[in-house]
Amino acid sequence: MSTAKKEYKRITTKTLVDMKRRGEKISMLTAYDYTMAKIVDNAGIDVILVGDSASNVMAGHETTLPITLDQMIYHASSVVRGIERSLVVVDLPFGTYQSDPKEALRSAIRIMKESGGHSVKLEGGKEIKDSIKKILNAGIPVMGHLGLTPQSIYKFGTYTVRAKEEEEAEKLKEDAIMLEQTGCFAIVLEKVPAKLAEEVAKSVSIPIIGIGAGNGVDGQVLVTHDMLGMTHEFNPRFLRRYLDMYAEMTTAFQQYGKDVKSGDFPNEKELY
Ligand code: KIV
Repeated sequence: MSTAKKEYKRITTKTLVDMKRRGEKISMLTAYDYTMAKIVDNAGIDVILVGDSASNVMAGHETTLPITLDQMIYHASSVVRGIERSLVVVDLPFGTYQSDPKEALRSAIRIMKESGGHSVKLEGGKEIKDSIKKILNAGIPVMGHLGLTPQSIYKFGTYTVRAKEEEEAEKLKEDAIMLEQTGCFAIVLEKVPAKLAEEVAKSVSIPIIGIGAGNGVDGQVLVTHDMLGMTHEFNPRFLRRYLDMYAEMTTAFQQYGKDVKSGDFPNEKELY
């Protein structure tokens, strides 16, 4: 259990902004179900992201685009039932906020009402400013997401580092300031050069949570299944694996299979 766990009973959006002010780093991981959320929350992780990466990790899709609002609500409500302390952020999936602000608000309201999540995350900068404003005006906290925004993968064409060129870096810096001024409580910054990420973190008073954005930002996020080593095929440089769960689980499943076939399971102590 982290020391932060004892200090804050419940993490709110305000807690995160206070953490940044005090120079305390913010920890964030994904969860898509009750059991995982309970473990992550109990470990003292500050923020749980119900990411649309569920589309890849849970459903096996190649991109985050296919996941629906109903599916995100199902995942988020399972997560909310597992937590006591962490702040729960829920991704608005592709196609539920880009067309107009009213639709964005309807989607965000459904997430808040039907899942019990505490806030929503949207990908993009000035193109979605009006949608963000509309959601914020309804009292729903918004986390931004800049840099590599996986919902735009077909526009980018690849998952490589974003904003290496001056023009894109300038736009990113402007977008971060716009998101702060509009009222977002934090921003995820994905796969951008560390120097740029640090500059962005220094230019705003809201926390910048990085993934593949170096250590000059205010917090870090990873996809839990990746950091546990449950996924093997995804190997970006920024990913630190804390376990090799793929190997551990394979060994356990193989042993179980052997025990069943040999008749060793169940044994005398496992009977009624
Ligand atoms: O969906 C997700 O898991 C995310 C993280 C990669 C930040 O957006």
